[in-house]
Amino acid sequence: MITTKLALENYVSTEHLSPKDIAHLIERAIEFKYMPEDLLPSYSDAYISNLFFENSTRTHLSFEVAERKLGMNVIPFDPSTSSINKGETLLDTAITLEALGIDTLVIRSKEKKYYQKLIDDHNLNLSIINGGDGSGQHPSQCLLDVMTIYEEFRILQGLKVVIVGDLAHSRVASSNAELLSRLGVELYFSGPIEWYDSSFDAYGTYVSLDHIIQEVDVIMLLRVQFERHEHKTFLDYKNYHESYGLTETRAQLMKPHAIIMHPAPVNRDVEIADSLVTDSRSRIVTQMKNGVFARMAILEAVMNGKR
Ligand code: CP
Repeated sequence: MITTKLALENYVSTEHLSPKDIAHLIERAIEFKYMPEDLLPSYSDAYISNLFFENSTRTHLSFEVAERKLGMNVIPFDPSTSSINKGETLLDTAITLEALGIDTLVIRSKEKKYYQKLIDDHNLNLSIINGGDGSGQHPSQCLLDVMTIYEEFRILQGLKVVIVGDLAHSRVASSNAELLSRLGVELYFSGPIEWYDSSFDAYGTYVSLDHIIQEVDVIMLLRVQFERHEHKTFLDYKNYHESYGLTETRAQLMKPHAIIMHPAPVNRDVEIADSLVTDSRSRIVTQMKNGVFARMAILEAVMNGKR
């Protein structure tokens, strides 16, 4: 049982977290995973709202499950019927929600670093949790990914991980590259060169999947981010799958203990063969399950940061 407390004012990027903070959050998430419901802490005086301006199933709903498990008051917010459609800015929406008594916002936006002007505004006294900012960061996904890898191997230092696919447009790739490299993971990147970004050079090596697949412990696949491609991408699905995806043939080359990860939603038979999504080596469903517990640990730390 963890006896120390982690207190965070906001949770917007993995870059602001030390390895000790990450270790705490992961241990706490694992504790929550096995804790009987009647022993969970209760934050019945917390008022929280989830503002999702981009589509989401996993992040939105697992935050909501996590919030309800922790006894919080979850105030519904629907962007399609909110005054954002009448020209209200995100800052004015946040000021309004704070005036109504809401103390924490989970926000997903297509704007990179949207959270900075909310945090910098001295009149605003809300905690912000980033549910994804464009192609910037997805720090709660990153935590659940690191938790899933840690649960599997009980160590991160020295593991070999390849991140494969639409690297340039993926916030999952940027968060994981930054954090995993800081935690001592040996990183490789793969996928179409057009979707590689030189900023990843700082964290690892660009290779072809066929070159590295027999050596890695984790294959982390990325969804093709059609919505972030400036020009409509012509993608030959079959060609992408054969050239860059995890095909059944490639999967046969994996080390016996290696695992397959994907943040989902999955484009079946594009990033990964349909049959491999629920293969015994796939941790895709485990990642979704861990999302609830990782987000409970994040929410608890942010509640501690307020009190
Ligand atoms: N992995 C992830 O962020 O999924 P959603 O877009 O469904 O939240």
